[in-house]
Amino acid sequence: EFELELRRSGRTLTVPAGSTVLAAVRGALPDTAYSCEQGFCGTCQQRVLEGEVDHRDELLTDAERGDSMLICVSRARSDRLVLDM
Ligand code: FES
Repeated sequence: EFELELRRSGRTLTVPAGSTVLAAVRGALPDTAYSCEQGFCGTCQQRVLEGEVDHRDELLTDAERGDSMLICVSRARSDRLVLDM
């Protein structure tokens, strides 16, 4: 599991091992956009402010991976991630 801060919303959540970032975020922000939930449509892309991402999609370019992630499939490599949402 890892800690997830939603900086603009002022919320800090825990993402359990068997859960996705999207599932955790939707618990706090039910209007969060998503579609395929499989890492290929890009709808769930969010900006990453801090932390190291474990990218598990096939869509984002290396440049995009520098500051964003697809929260339906990707997880954290660090103990903590901070998203701009
Ligand atoms: Fe489609 Fe995440 S919801 S890439």
